[in-house]
Amino acid sequence: MSRKALIAANWKMYKTPAEAKAFVDAFLPLVAGHTRDEIALFPSPVLLPTVIAAAKGSNVSVGCQNIHFAEEGAYTGETSIGQLKAVGGTHTLIGHSERRQYFAETDEIVNKKLHTALKHGIGPVVCIGEVLAEREAGLTADVLKTQIAGAFAGITPEAAGPIVIAYEPVWAIGTGKTATPEMAADAHRIIRAEVAKLLGADVAVAIRILYGGSVKPDNATSLIGQEEIDGALVGGASLKPDSFTAIVKY
Ligand code: 13P
Repeated sequence: MSRKALIAANWKMYKTPAEAKAFVDAFLPLVAGHTRDEIALFPSPVLLPTVIAAAKGSNVSVGCQNIHFAEEGAYTGETSIGQLKAVGGTHTLIGHSERRQYFAETDEIVNKKLHTALKHGIGPVVCIGEVLAEREAGLTADVLKTQIAGAFAGITPEAAGPIVIAYEPVWAIGTGKTATPEMAADAHRIIRAEVAKLLGADVAVAIRILYGGSVKPDNATSLIGQEEIDGALVGGASLKPDSFTAIVKY
């Protein structure tokens, strides 16, 4: 089964609107006509209108790094799914490790956000991954299974089609330490087996599992080239058009 890869840029809390527009203006010609993979940009909410306008009509999708699970309400500082849709966003990251680590996001919150995204037709990229101490204690498989089961509670096989999973070992994020392609592929096999257990073989064979954590132009081919790895979620190396293009064209 060949799954179309998704190469996604998580810009985190970087770029002004002018910088974001300059990126898109430089990037689009570099990836024009690139249909082998899907491409998505995840800027901060304040950049969404600029990036969506600049990418309009192109082969590049745009989404949020986070949404609230409630449709609206008194949630100071948050972004709703309706707001994301109204500005033309089509995707959202959910449960990024930085959300879990610094904003106390739990599997239960991730699950609520996943339900909200699916209900409103927004493509969710659910992020999971173990921290270093968990890997060193031999707990990686347990952690991944718990995160998947938590995120997917109450999700039916019929609803699961749009879900993308991003496996991001926390110890590899922003550290320059990449999981070897074999380590990443092992984790992806564990994740896919767990999805099969929860949602059946058809969903498991179709679901895309991205790798994230220090993906760079020089390691993208060996990582994404793995049968089990269906694309990448890229932080630091997605901030410059040429390095992100080199990853897109792995
Ligand atoms: P880096 O590519 O900077 O390690 O970040 C990975 C990440 O967190 C993407 O979501």
